[in-house]
Amino acid sequence: MNQANLTRLCTVSRRTFMAAAAGAAAGCATVPKAACRAAASGAPITLPPLPYGQDALAPLISAQTLSFHYGKHHQGYVNTLNKLLPGSPFAGQSLEAVVCATAGCADHAALFNNAAQVWNHTFYWKSLAPAGSGGAPSAALAAAIHAAFGSMEACNKALAEAALTQFGSGWAWLVAKKGAVSVVKTPNAETPFTQKGVTPLLTIDVWEHAYYLDWQNRRADYVKAVLDKLVNWSFASANYAVAKA
Ligand SMILES: [Fe+2]
Repeated sequence: MNQANLTRLCTVSRRTFMAAAAGAAAGCATVPKAACRAAASGAPITLPPLPYGQDALAPLISAQTLSFHYGKHHQGYVNTLNKLLPGSPFAGQSLEAVVCATAGCADHAALFNNAAQVWNHTFYWKSLAPAGSGGAPSAALAAAIHAAFGSMEACNKALAEAALTQFGSGWAWLVAKKGAVSVVKTPNAETPFTQKGVTPLLTIDVWEHAYYLDWQNRRADYVKAVLDKLVNWSFASANYAVAKA
């Protein structure tokens, strides 16, 4: 699913999202599932192929880390999701529809967590590229970054701070809304694409499984390595172009 369709799919307003997330008595009733049902595909949820070889990010992210992170963790979320979906109200829905429809729903927390983690990880692999191949921000994205942060260095500093201050597991994101870019962080499986008008541009996984084999507890070093060498700015630029369209 491309970013334009994704943006249309997730019509959950921030207000209703937060109300649902707060565990409102109405539970999932506040989430407009009709919008998500419209995107039902009926296709099975599968593990997308990595966009590069498992050794392509070494030595900063080793083949051993990718073997576990992609082959065990990402695959595990896919497997668990496919155990949870049959018999649920979301069987046969697209991955994005499941994420949208279960966001903030305490009754479907396990479905949301696994579906969102499948989506987040697929997006994370695309947010990275082998060193030297990720390109640079497009002119439009660079202008938006300068408008928001003043410089690329300041943008990277904001991303690093979000990644380092996310307590426990989660994600740091560069996102766009109405053409403006910003940095956000989300805990656990939470993902910003469920929020109205927000388009993720790139993400950094800061769950310990993303870096512990290579960097042990040194999350700051892992994040610096990603920001200095592995960000796929071409991917972020393409996402920004769609967000602005
Ligand atoms: Fe992860």
